[in-house]
Order: sequence, then C-alpha cells, then structure tokens
Amino acid sequence: MAVHLYSSIADLNSLLEISAEHNIPLLEDCSQAHGAVYCGRRIGSFGVIGAFSLQQSKLLTAGEGGIAVTNDSTLYDRMQQFRADGRHYRRTGCAAPIEFAEIEFAGDVAGRNLCMSEFSAAVVLGGLELLDEQNALRLANFRLLERRLASIPGVSLVSTAAATELPVFYSIVCRFDASLLGECDVADVAAALSAELRLPVDRIDPPMNEHPLYCPLKSSIVQASDRERFDPRRFDLPNAQRAYASCVELPHYCLLGDESDVDDIAVALEKIVRWLR
Ligand SMILES: Cc1ncc(COP(=O)(O)O)c(C=O)c1O
Repeated sequence: MAVHLYSSIADLNSLLEISAEHNIPLLEDCSQAHGAVYCGRRIGSFGVIGAFSLQQSKLLTAGEGGIAVTNDSTLYDRMQQFRADGRHYRRTGCAAPIEFAEIEFAGDVAGRNLCMSEFSAAVVLGGLELLDEQNALRLANFRLLERRLASIPGVSLVSTAAATELPVFYSIVCRFDASLLGECDVADVAAALSAELRLPVDRIDPPMNEHPLYCPLKSSIVQASDRERFDPRRFDLPNAQRAYASCVELPHYCLLGDESDVDDIAVALEKIVRWLR
C-alpha cells in the first residue's frame, strides 16, 4: 500500500513497476492528498483501489467517513456490498418502485453497515467544488513560504516526488537541520512554534518499528518459527528516524490565508531559528 503522507506523493512509477513485476496489486491511501496530480493523473487512480479519508482534519471532509475508488467492476461491486450490509444495487436495470429500496439482498458477501448518510455526502460534494481552488491557494502560499525560507538557513520545507505535477498540502512539514537543533528536542520546537502561531504544531509520527501499537511479536498469528522475521528491532529505518528527530508539521488551513499570514509563519520560524542558535 502506497501512503501519500505529509504532502509527499509516493514514488508511484517505481511502486507500479514492483507491483507489476511481482503481481502484487497496488493500493493507494490518499487520505492526505485529495486532488493531487502525478504524471498527468489524479492520485487514487494509479492503484487498483484508492482510499480517501473524509475525517474532520482532511482537505476534503464530511466530519467522518471516506471514499474508495476503483476502475475494476468486480472490486466496485464487492466494495458496494461491504459497505451496505452485503446488499447490492438492484440488477433489474430499472429504478426501484416507490417505497422499495434501491439495494437488495445479494448473499455472496458478508458486509457491514458503513453507508454514508446523504447529509454527509452533501457536505462532501460542497467541499469538492472548493477543493481545486483551495489547493491552488495553498500551493501559491506554500511557494511564497518556500521563497521566504530561502533566506533562513537551517530550516526547509519537505518536498514531494519529482513526477508530482500538482502537489497538495495536508500538512506543512518543516525540517530543521541537525546541526541547528543540536541537543534540542524537536518536540520543544513544535511547542514553541505552536505558541508563536497559536496553531496546533506537532512533531511527525515515529518510525513504524517504534510505534507502540506495532507489536507483531504479541500477535497469536505470528508462528514461533517466524518471530525473528517479524521482530521490529530487525529493521533499521534511518530516514524515518531522521525525519522524526527533525520535522514538525503545521495544519493545512494555515495556507488558506493571504501573504501576511504566510509572513507570520516565516517570522515565527525565523524567531525559532534565532532561539536555536
Ligand atoms: C494517511 C491516512 N490514512 C488513514 C487515515 C485514517 O482515516 P479515518 O480516520 O477516516 O479512518 C488517516 C487519518 O485519519 C490518514 O492520515
């Protein structure tokens, strides 16, 4: 599964090559990248299924819920059934008579009731009309912030895969040079930036093998003979560790303002850099 995380679109071309070579279907988690374009196409259309969370913090939201997209009619039918208690749309080719449901018992998939309400769908459709415009504003302000930060040594913004034609910004990830941070914990930098901007600024997620919920050795499905293979301590994740030790993230809505709001972010970052020196 490719997860487009922290405003970075995954290197889909390479992942598609691996997927074709080994005949492993590629899934995309696009929950942080609604509307991004990679190699001429919207992300979510590269994998066999693209999933978009619509939870309240996302670029497109219904408060909760999500969207799954596919070009495969079999997967489409199965997903419909999974979310509608195993039922599927009527197959008669004509609309249901008044007071009859549009969906009917199918009997081949055990689904659950995960249907989105019409109210939530209406909220999302309204948001969808604004999405491209808001993404364009966030991109323009991100470019402005990049230009402002060019004169502040020691802090940079995280970029995306080269083939990304339209990056989108679910979070604005700032990376501080290790030499600038010295002994300072990046969590303290996040707290200081948060206080300066009065925005929820946080450090990013820890590497997967340090995550408290990732405990494969406690799982009963891991056989004794496989314990060594599943032991998270076996993995060295230097890039994830470096990122965890040096990055903080700001929420996407801080790029929905005007030039003076971008200036506020740059001034706050400048102040933090001075404090770190
Ligand atoms: C990349 C990513 N995947 C999945 C999820 C989970 O989505 P949900 O909360 O809608 O289940 C989130 C955030 O909530 C996310 O950021």
